[in-house]
Amino acid sequence: MRNLEDDIAHILIDQETLSTRVKWLAKQIADDYRDEDSLVLISVLKGSVIFMTEFSMALQRPHEIDFMSVSSYVGSKSSGVVQLYLDLRQEIEGKNILILEDIVDSGRTLNMLRKLLLERKPASLKICTLLNKPSVREIDVPLDYIGFDIPDEFVVGYGLDFNELYRNLPFIGVLKPEVIAWG
Ligand code: IMP
Ligand code: MG
Repeated sequence: MRNLEDDIAHILIDQETLSTRVKWLAKQIADDYRDEDSLVLISVLKGSVIFMTEFSMALQRPHEIDFMSVSSYVGSKSSGVVQLYLDLRQEIEGKNILILEDIVDSGRTLNMLRKLLLERKPASLKICTLLNKPSVREIDVPLDYIGFDIPDEFVVGYGLDFNELYRNLPFIGVLKPEVIAWG
């Protein structure tokens, strides 16, 4: 059986560091929303599912969770066209919305998602991303909470995939270049 860990060049963020940071974000956000009635976390499928799970369990205040699915990626390259695959099943007008993303790269995905959700008149809309690649941003999107700024390397694990694999690795790792080349 193929061992996916053999495809990792090096670990960028280990499991304990991720967990500590996610708890820190949850504490910060619980504090910032302490006077608010509603809070809906929107996880962008599928990359942010593991982040959402740990974050939601650490978030010590009432909140709902919901899911959307959008994608601009094929393999390790952005196709430049963002598609909406799954929408919310609830109205968000008047609610406080916090988008949870796995990673912000060009900013295209979030920019589209943000515009789409703002049209629905939420009370507020903020963005929390676990990972941020500031050096490759093409579209400026306001990021309210950031787990880690990382360099421009293709990373997998903790929800992030390459061709749908590696999401279950409990750390963030950089793929060996030959793995990406074989695609
Ligand atoms: P953006 O639209 O270019 O900002 O890309 C955001 C989406 O691309 C993320 O939600 C990921 O699904 C995917 N993505 C960007 N960089 C990486 C990476 O290094 N590893 C895995 N997925 C990535
Ligand atoms: Mg994503």
